[in-house]
Amino acid sequence: MEIVDLFSGNYVVALSPMDGITDAAFRKTQVEIAKPDLVFTEFVSAEGLAHNAVRLFDQLLYSPEERPIIGQIFGKDPDSFYLASIILCHLGFDGVDINMGCPAKKVTQHGAGAALIDRPEVAAKIILATKKGIADYQNNPKIFYKLNLKQKVLDIIERNLKYSNICVETPYMASLPIHPISFSIKTRLGVSEPVVDRWISHLCSFSPDFITLHGRTLKQGYSGLANWDEIAKAAIICHNSNVKILGNGDLTSLNMTREYCAKYDTDGATIGRAAMGNPWIFNNKTASFQEKYQAMLKHARHFTDIFPHRRFDPLRHHFLLYVSGHPNASALRQEIVKLTSIDQLCTLEAAITD
Ligand SMILES: Cc1cc2nc3c(=O)[nH]c(=O)nc-3n(C[C@H](O)[C@H](O)[C@H](O)COP(=O)(O)O)c2cc1C
Repeated sequence: MEIVDLFSGNYVVALSPMDGITDAAFRKTQVEIAKPDLVFTEFVSAEGLAHNAVRLFDQLLYSPEERPIIGQIFGKDPDSFYLASIILCHLGFDGVDINMGCPAKKVTQHGAGAALIDRPEVAAKIILATKKGIADYQNNPKIFYKLNLKQKVLDIIERNLKYSNICVETPYMASLPIHPISFSIKTRLGVSEPVVDRWISHLCSFSPDFITLHGRTLKQGYSGLANWDEIAKAAIICHNSNVKILGNGDLTSLNMTREYCAKYDTDGATIGRAAMGNPWIFNNKTASFQEKYQAMLKHARHFTDIFPHRRFDPLRHHFLLYVSGHPNASALRQEIVKLTSIDQLCTLEAAITD
């Protein structure tokens, strides 16, 4: 389904992008258990993509069942966004999203992420470059071959295309009759204080298909509560400009999500942290520990299949969240932090499911 069509139905409930969390294994597990309306990749550096950083392409792996899927990029250099957006289009993403919300110092100290809220002229150049990349690709998908990417990058792109079941010879776009690629932005309320009137109006002047708004400032990081009254203000600005808006921040159930979308008049919302260890949040189900154990196994299998070269360690963090609330959680935690393989996870089956 095209992204723009998603918005013609009920509230859009999406999985929020989370760096180091929502990788291809996480998302595949998620969509197999309870499919969000939309998913995003973790954010990927536009400059890195433009400078042949082959390792970043692991973050752009996705399986076809995840569609619609949007690739998210961050950075500070408009030319890199132009190139990166063409690469994302060639990889068959249904949309390109710009991160203008990351509060991490390693990102903001370079003027990227949420720091762009205080750099509206640079933000404008980045938006225009990304839109041009998408438009140029849609006009002529063969433009990808004019980027003169290094052979090692073409090879890794071929690997990604195969994983996503896309014919390597025929660009994905060219194989479809009409498939508009969406353009969107994810941002925050402001840097130190909410500046929704100025900032959201600025973004809307470039007519993105939608904006995702996390109801905190950069300065807040993840502290305090998301301010949904500011999201509601932004929703009015967006709707006056014919731009859709997804609210984001502190949603902990599907019912709460729908309630907030109605109350604050957004077109939908994204759910992040509450989906960790709880993929059932998207179908409103309360899972048993038997089901949670099966989800852990599924997640671990997808992870080792997709990233055979990676260490098992990042999975432990997810497993700890799957068993949160378990009557033997503390004993299980001590075992989980030592896990190094699926076989070892299997030895915990009885302890988790009994
Ligand atoms: C570990 C972690 C990584 C994140 N990485 C990204 C990211 O790559 N891109 C992005 O736009 N937001 C990122 N976020 C922000 C989330 O998408 C979301 O806006 C935030 O967690 C608030 O939503 P929540 O309360 O539903 O978790 C990240 C958040 C966390 C906790």
